[in-house]
Amino acid sequence: MRLALSTGGGDAPGLNAVIRGAVLSAVHRGWAAYGIQRGFGGLLGGDKVVSLGPDEVRGITHLGGTILGTTNRSSPFKWPVPQPDGSVKDVDRSDELVDAFRAHGFDALIMIGGDGSLRIAQQLYEKGLPVVGVPKTIDNDVRGTVTTFGFDTAVSTATDALDKVHSTAESHDRVMVVEVMGRYAGWIALNSGLAGSADVILIPEIPFDIESVCRKVRERDARGRRFSIVVVAEGAMPIGGKVVTRAPAGPGDRMERLGGIAERVAAAIEERTGKETRALTLGHLQRGGRPTTFDRLLALRFGAAAVRCVADGNFGVMVSHVPPSTGFVPLKEALGKPKLVPLDLDTVLMAREIGVCLGD
Ligand code: F6P
Repeated sequence: MRLALSTGGGDAPGLNAVIRGAVLSAVHRGWAAYGIQRGFGGLLGGDKVVSLGPDEVRGITHLGGTILGTTNRSSPFKWPVPQPDGSVKDVDRSDELVDAFRAHGFDALIMIGGDGSLRIAQQLYEKGLPVVGVPKTIDNDVRGTVTTFGFDTAVSTATDALDKVHSTAESHDRVMVVEVMGRYAGWIALNSGLAGSADVILIPEIPFDIESVCRKVRERDARGRRFSIVVVAEGAMPIGGKVVTRAPAGPGDRMERLGGIAERVAAAIEERTGKETRALTLGHLQRGGRPTTFDRLLALRFGAAAVRCVADGNFGVMVSHVPPSTGFVPLKEALGKPKLVPLDLDTVLMAREIGVCLGD
């Protein structure tokens, strides 16, 4: 059995632990494992396929990033090809990819990625490749699994940042607006905001009214709490407004680049309340660094669970975490709409009950 592994899309802490879990489980069964480098780039031109054994995956469980490299511009169905006139055109190279996969004599592919990569996994499965998906995203917005690895680490990083921002905000009687990741779903903002004792949490699921945010800041001021902490997800938007983007999607890009909502919210708070307000965007800090214990363990379990699916001939599925166990769901179930924060979730109710403003 020759097993191929690929990491695609944005990175997330725990990718290396998945690779280690999968490779060692494969070796345990007497199989050979290979890593396709840089998303699918390794099979489309670069021929960067590396053999993975115990030596290659030694000591990587605690490391951030991915030893295989990744890209969110490597869909074989929309491969960016530079044209003679300098423009870039998206080209379907999926047939070439299938041929390269077979030429290498691979028997199965484990694809570790977020919504975009899992969609590619499903398309490749429909083209006849034996694929198993592993859900990855710090945003935790993939359906079919309660948790994705990387999320816990991102929440810890954001919470740590909020703790730090707290002391400086308090010293200066300032309002600090902290932007965290979360394109469609507010899981990181909600969890880190609560753990980091934010006063206002703005998530994409609840379009906000800036006046309600300012009311909270003024109320605190009146009580002698002259500073406030606002956490805003990058995908949050005002009622009737739109998400704030830094750059449109270019050729090969899967999506536009979000960012900048913290500056907008900070400017509006300063204008309406007269309080000095600063904005801070945590950005890719949340994607880097050592995975937490929870993420390391979940990632190792996902890697082993994916190999178990391959051993059972169970393809076109994605491994999933439904506590206390890992299992699998059809890949199709994970696609479609992102997994949003349900507004009746007890975490949301608790936020309201302890006086956190959610912007509505
Ligand atoms: O999907 C995870 C995520 O971190 C989003 O929250 C964010 O919008 C996006 O990736 C950023 O991707 P990139 O690093 O490609 O700009």
